[in-house]
Amino acid sequence: MREGLDSAFLDQVRARSDIVEVLGQYLDLKKAGKNYVGLCPFHPDRRPSLSVSPDRQMFYCFACGAGGDVFTFVMKREGLPFVEAVRLLARRAGVPWPERRLTPAEEARSRHRRRLLEALDLAAKAFAGWLAGPGGEPARAYLSRRGVSEETARRFGLGYAPPGWHSLSRLLAGRGFTEGELVDAGLVVPREGGGVYDRFRNRLMFPIWDLHGQVIAFGGRALDESQPKYLNSPESPVFQKGSTWYALHLAREAIRREQRAVVVEGYMDVIAAHQAGFASVVASMGTAFTREQARVLQGYCSAVTICYDADVAGQSATWRSLEILRDLGLRVYVASLPAGDDPDSLLRREGRDALARVLEGALPLVEYRLELAARTASTVEGKLQAVANIIPLLADLSSPVEREAYVREAARRLGTSEEALWQELREYRRRRRGHKSQGPRERIAEMNEAGSTPALARAEEMLVRLMLEDPQRVERVRARVGAEDFRHPVWRELAAGIMESVVAGGAVVDGARLAAALESEQAVSALARLQVEELACPDPERALEDCLGLLEGERRRQRLAELATSIRECESRKEPVPAHILDEYQELVKMVHRRRRPAG
Ligand code: UTP
Ligand code: MN
Repeated sequence: MREGLDSAFLDQVRARSDIVEVLGQYLDLKKAGKNYVGLCPFHPDRRPSLSVSPDRQMFYCFACGAGGDVFTFVMKREGLPFVEAVRLLARRAGVPWPERRLTPAEEARSRHRRRLLEALDLAAKAFAGWLAGPGGEPARAYLSRRGVSEETARRFGLGYAPPGWHSLSRLLAGRGFTEGELVDAGLVVPREGGGVYDRFRNRLMFPIWDLHGQVIAFGGRALDESQPKYLNSPESPVFQKGSTWYALHLAREAIRREQRAVVVEGYMDVIAAHQAGFASVVASMGTAFTREQARVLQGYCSAVTICYDADVAGQSATWRSLEILRDLGLRVYVASLPAGDDPDSLLRREGRDALARVLEGALPLVEYRLELAARTASTVEGKLQAVANIIPLLADLSSPVEREAYVREAARRLGTSEEALWQELREYRRRRRGHKSQGPRERIAEMNEAGSTPALARAEEMLVRLMLEDPQRVERVRARVGAEDFRHPVWRELAAGIMESVVAGGAVVDGARLAAALESEQAVSALARLQVEELACPDPERALEDCLGLLEGERRRQRLAELATSIRECESRKEPVPAHILDEYQELVKMVHRRRRPAG
């Protein structure tokens, strides 16, 4: 359906064509929860039936089933073939049409990036050398005052930027780097009227790495009271703050092993924590982080514990970040530090057991918010506000048992009745469901083809959904069933697309890219629906097992029927039935029997 365009170019156009922005030029969109809604332009729509997901960059109309990514929308709306729709969006976004594979400009850019990385690497070595050298005494004294061992300092590549204005710039100029390169690397600052000076002076230097352990930036801490306390490299062609976690390349093995990341605020918190043996700690470099950063973590673990200073954890920027994690399906816990402490100060004062206790005592996000909400609930207004804050969280809980427990707890803490909260919850759900009442379920039944039952189609849909949610599951699904085992054509196409597109262990299935690879419009629309709709699956593990079991059972039934036909044919021709057919038949019959008797 969509061929002939370079995928990097398409990605670029897509990245610069935010679906909410583009659709917003055609329709009136209103925010509704995480999504936006508007009147669907593809059928006569009186109530807003079209949902747009900024997270997934997909739209879907719950009334007429139109759906897809930003390209699909423009194609349908403008009546353009794919390439022309791309051209329109590219022009709008200012992305030049690709001429050849790698332009000389791109070539130059990648050379430039390599030069910057070399300069940064040399700078890190120089800083480390200065820390160890005779001029490094103040920085060494500072480190020892803060309890950082020499070994830890080495492990974290710590360094010292001397007080002079040209220590680093001269050294690197001597190695053949131009002023322009050093400016772009963020190591020096251009001076008005020409020349440059060192950005980092008289500071303790923390290299910041990418996932491969390449130095891409620095943070520099003042050794005295001078401001700012921490000076960081600016963004550069090699450093995007929004996708970097401090120390992730050192922590990621532990994070994967423990299936949990601990997120702290500061460089020193990370260093002190690692030194004390907490290996899965990374820092967000500030308290808010981006969806991109969240996705990076999602590639390694299923849970995140936030361990921010007490005053910070309650701020709204922090909430937004935590919501991002939760939206990606990570379990979020919030650890409460004693007031005035950060992990580093707690470790210094009370040792590793104190931090371990804080981390073990981390509360699930809902509980933590419940506790905060309860604090404001002393007045009637505060109570209303607290209920309003807590209802969406309760509604989002995937397990009914959990919900019941939290409703009870919330009622107790907010000093209201459980019935009142259930009432609020029902109201909230009704409001939220409102425009979805048309029921995509019925549409699936419609789409069914011979040989597919509604239960089977639902299982296939669920499997596709589960794989989309967490690509780690793709391998598990593929180990048991192939795309050809999906009976329904739409789910078969999607399953095939996902299985092909997921590199084993890949962090996410890129819905937009997947959409581009699909052949049929129905498959694109179904994908869009899955991405726009919210899933509340109480127990994904169990669902995965159940659905796989169903598909395997179906495959066995199919195979049994085939074998039975062959056997009958042989018998009607009075020929002996080949042994391998009989063997397989008996084997399968036995298996089906075993399955029917749950005790075995
Ligand atoms: P904090 O102010 O909490 O400092 O900033 P800290 O980590 O406790 O530092 P120490 O213990 O006094 O050395 C937390 C993080 O916010 C960023 C840094 O990444 C810091 O580690 N920050 C803070 C800045 O970028 N600039 C600043 O001026 C301050
Ligand atoms: Mn600190």
